[in-house]
Amino acid sequence: MNLTKRPRRLRGNASIRSMVRETRVSPESLIYPVFFVEGEGIQKEIPSLPGQYHWSVDKVPTLVELCKSHGVSRLLLFGIPDHKDDHASAAYDENGIIQKAVRAIKAYDPELYVITDVCMCEYTDHGHCGILCGHEVDNDKTLEYLAKISLSHVVAGADMVAPSDMMDGRIGAIRRLLDEHGYVNTPIMSYAAKYASAFYGPFRDAAGSAPSFGDRKGYQMDPHNVKEALKECDLDVEEGADILMVKPALPYLDVLTKVADRYDLPICAYAVSGEYAMVKAAAAAGLVDEYRIMCESAISVYRAGADMLITYYALELADAMRKGDIG
Ligand code: PBG
Repeated sequence: MNLTKRPRRLRGNASIRSMVRETRVSPESLIYPVFFVEGEGIQKEIPSLPGQYHWSVDKVPTLVELCKSHGVSRLLLFGIPDHKDDHASAAYDENGIIQKAVRAIKAYDPELYVITDVCMCEYTDHGHCGILCGHEVDNDKTLEYLAKISLSHVVAGADMVAPSDMMDGRIGAIRRLLDEHGYVNTPIMSYAAKYASAFYGPFRDAAGSAPSFGDRKGYQMDPHNVKEALKECDLDVEEGADILMVKPALPYLDVLTKVADRYDLPICAYAVSGEYAMVKAAAAAGLVDEYRIMCESAISVYRAGADMLITYYALELADAMRKGDIG
């Protein structure tokens, strides 16, 4: 047959396939989420997230060495406090779980890049992401707290803060307080387009942060919307966000692409707990090839436009990238 164009010519063997790849990735783009708890000697597997752990602060050397052995050196920290109250006081306490974890990581290895999740849901006794007024989260009052929490993380040594609460005006409020205290060079990664998603289920078990009543639909985004995601990003860019995040990842690849096309900021995607737990469960049931699903899912997120990826598979993906299975 006289075909002038034969796309298969560029798929003939592994060598040419890897040469013409359109999507290139590297372990530097991976961010590994980790959970810290109070106590000592704890490295306890999280039932809802097989292969992920609750860490106590004294185990930081084990954690850091584990990450470094895979070549992963960017962490996103979550804290699970012993004490919860209606105003999340443990979230901005200088001896809070996150503040202690940040100091311990930086003392052990200052080269590790430490990002902290800024939110109140793990620290409030009602499990919502801010200060309540009746059954609603009071947006403007919550901003003061988010800024205060962010500042306490940065004072403890965090390199970057990542607010995940979805209050209006939070990026501006955090930026102003950090600047006032001289932290003009600390970047903010905004969970800009964060949807009210059932995919956070395993995380809420892991972090003990499920709301005790109602849901988060009053502040997180409606999964039906995409123009609204761009509005959220516009606002965050105006308020001074340095990096924009879309979350979850796989079910929202269309959103990711639109955001990546429209903004010249670095774009991050968060492959959330439910995405991870589903693959783990399917693999445990013998239904899918976990390694290949992990690789293909990650590459899809990068192909859609992500520059960076937050994922519970960060360690395994870094190995896959180095082996050339992706990237
Ligand atoms: C805190 C926060 C959540 C996640 C990241 N930060 C939970 C939520 O919004 O309910 C979810 C992460 C995941 O599911 O892996 N607000």
